[in-house]
Order: sequence, then C-alpha cells, then structure tokens
Amino acid sequence: MIVYLNGSFIPHSEAKISVDDRGFLFADGVYEVAKIYEGRVFLFEQHLRRLRAGLTELRMNTDVVDGIPAITERLLDENDLRGGDATVYIQVTRGAAPRAHAFPPADTPQTVLIAVKPFKGHPASYYTEGVGAITVPDVRWSRCDIKSISLLPNVLANQQAKENGAFEALFIRDSNVIEGSHANLFGVLDGKLVTCPASGHILNGITRQLVLQRAPEAGIPVYEEFIPEARFNEVTELFLTGTTTEIMPVTRVDGKPVGAGVPGQITKQLQQLFKTWVEENLAASATSGHGAAL
Ligand code: PDD
Repeated sequence: MIVYLNGSFIPHSEAKISVDDRGFLFADGVYEVAKIYEGRVFLFEQHLRRLRAGLTELRMNTDVVDGIPAITERLLDENDLRGGDATVYIQVTRGAAPRAHAFPPADTPQTVLIAVKPFKGHPASYYTEGVGAITVPDVRWSRCDIKSISLLPNVLANQQAKENGAFEALFIRDSNVIEGSHANLFGVLDGKLVTCPASGHILNGITRQLVLQRAPEAGIPVYEEFIPEARFNEVTELFLTGTTTEIMPVTRVDGKPVGAGVPGQITKQLQQLFKTWVEENLAASATSGHGAAL
C-alpha cells in the first residue's frame, strides 16, 4: 500500500518516523478514522471539522486539514480502492523535537500520516444477533471529546473485553454508562432512545451525530440523557455506533441478556435507516464529487 507521510506518497514499508516524534514520546497528537463506501469517503466534512477542532484544542496549526481530501483521493486511486469498502486513517502529531514536555519551537513541522486500507468488516452475525459487552470503570482523562491518540485506557478496556469473549467495553463514569472503548452507546430506557450528552466526557461520534439528527425524521426521537448504572438492567435495547462499527446491537452485558437478549425493534429499524443514509450520501456525493454534508 502507498501511504502519505509528511508530503511524500511512499510504500507503507518505507514510511518511517523519528524516535523523537512527540506522538511516539507523549501521544501528543490527534487522529481520525473515516469510512469509505464504494470509493467515497462518508461524512468526510464532519470528520475534518472534528480534526480541526481537536488540533485547535491542542493548540496546533490546522492548515494541514485543507489538503487532506485531495491526498485521500490520490491514495484511493493509487491503492486501487475505488471499488469496495475501505477506511482512511489520519494522524497529526506536534512533530519531532528533543524530548521536553513543553511545546517545541513553533516552526517544528507536524508529522502527518494518512493511510487507506480495505475494510473487511465484522461478521454479519454481529449485526443480526448482536455482540457482548463488559462494563469497566472509566479511568480516562476529562477531555474525551478530543480524538487524541492517547488511547491507553481504551486499549486496556478493549483487551479486557476480548479476554472476556466480548466485543466492547462500556465505560462507567460518575455512575453512568457513557460510551464504549471505540464506539458510542445508545439505549432504550422507559421506552425512550437515549444516549449520553455530548458534554458527558465522551467522543461526540460522527455516527452518533448522524443518528441524533436523522432518527427523529423517521419518527424515532433521541434524547441526550445519561444511562445510570443503577438502571442499566432496565434497558430494553442497547446498540453501539461508530465509523467502522456502524449500528451494532449489544445483546449481552457482563454475561446477562439485554432485554430479550436479541436485537430490539428500534435498533433494527435504525440499522435499515443507516443503510439508506449511506446510499443517499453516495448518491449526493456522486453529483457533488465529494462526500456530502449530513
Ligand atoms: N473510534 N467513542 C470513542 C471512544 C471512539 O474511539 C469512537 C471512534 C467513537 C465513535 O465515533 P465515530 O462515530 O466518529 O467513529 C466513540 C474510531 C473508529 C477508532 O478509534 O478506530
């Protein structure tokens, strides 16, 4: 595969970064993952907006963002990924400089990696039968809204899930079940579809925002409300949302069934709607030439 690193399009095996890179030393950077359906990046504008916001929060220059769509287009062509599903991974760090905690000189070039790869997808049964999850204490920092490359708590939580035969680990913070290690969480409580408020120490997922904006049009109102841990056993449906996860039912948590232990009606309806949203977006981007807005 050909990747983009710091201005060059080079084979993956030749892409090298400095041992002084602040991403390597301090996890001093941000990233994005966007999905490509039939050669077109889904909701790219939204991902790039979040990237720009993350860079701003880290007090990093945002100029890099403007060039990303053209670089991604070239990578899709050079890697012959115009056909099926793929992902684009974007990472920007504060660059390489002798190790010192405070920022390096302002003219230190950022390290910019952009890589595309085919997406094999999850087994179909994950979507039709649902997956298992575990709950874990949220030991992350308070800026989970920034898509920082500092993902150690997410890595440890997800590994714990895997070791327990589960797909996802759900973080509990301040007695609420807020989101997964790599996906947002929605649940049906008192017959209402709810998801953690964006201000509740979560990553405000692009897929989450899509559901919040478009589900009401289909007669499914969504409320940004916490799911209290104490009421978690009353939740009748649960699902994850994410760029690569899409809309995935969670049917077991900590070994106990969620509701009837099968994907619920609202979840199944949203899975169908999600397909139409992707198709609509593809049709719109075919005329505009790039990923259309929501
Ligand atoms: N994960 N919450 C967390 C902690 C995430 O890492 C992600 C995405 C999401 C969902 O966001 P979105 O809908 O924008 O993908 C929520 C990406 C895909 C990853 O780390 O690979």
